[in-house]
Amino acid sequence: MTAAKISVWDPIIRIIHWLLAAAVLFNWYTDQPLWLHTWTGYLAAVLVASRVLWGCIGPENARFASFVRRPQVIIDYLAGLVRFSSRRYLGHSPAGGAMVVALLIMVAATAGSGMASLAAIEGRGPLSAVIERVPPPRALGQRRPPPLICGIHQVLGNATLALVVLHVAGVVLASCAHRENLMAAMITGRKRSK
Ligand code: HEM
Repeated sequence: MTAAKISVWDPIIRIIHWLLAAAVLFNWYTDQPLWLHTWTGYLAAVLVASRVLWGCIGPENARFASFVRRPQVIIDYLAGLVRFSSRRYLGHSPAGGAMVVALLIMVAATAGSGMASLAAIEGRGPLSAVIERVPPPRALGQRRPPPLICGIHQVLGNATLALVVLHVAGVVLASCAHRENLMAAMITGRKRSK
């Protein structure tokens, strides 16, 4: 007999997840045209802020309080996972919960450094009131190295993508260990109850 399926991920979590995934992958792939890269970055920042709010007021499985756990609990879970003997969780596992927090922080940092870069290069965007524009070269044809913040933005973008690769690897590993399709669960919102 197959176990009944129950609802685990609410629609807000799923919509935020897939929009955030699309925004992060698109912006990592290209920064052209710049206006689209910029607006996709704003969208990612709004999605992260919405997820943080939902983590405080949303249903049980969405709440940070239900999945942020002590480092030792995360280490024990990971040790069990690689031996395929970890406990199955209906909501986020301890490692999944840590990854949620890390991804939200990294996307926020990448978006913030992008806004700082826009202010430094073009004197535009929400941070232009607090970050001074780097003056353009005086002579025609003269080149200036890009401001440091642009390099920081690039490094953060690449680090976020590395985290995403780790995230997807973790999803595949946990799916195999518990013989369930976690990606399908993030689409339908449902998981088997046992
Ligand atoms: C840029 C790409 C991605 C980002 C930024 C991202 C981010 C996140 C975040 C923030 C969560 C937490 C969900 C929540 O509680 O709100 C999450 C969970 C999840 N993501 Fe992704 N994700 C990405 C790509 C993917 C892809 C490609 C897959 C498909 C394999 C995937 C599958 C999942 C699953 C299954 C969960 C739930 C994990 C669990 O059971 O604990 N994600 N992701």
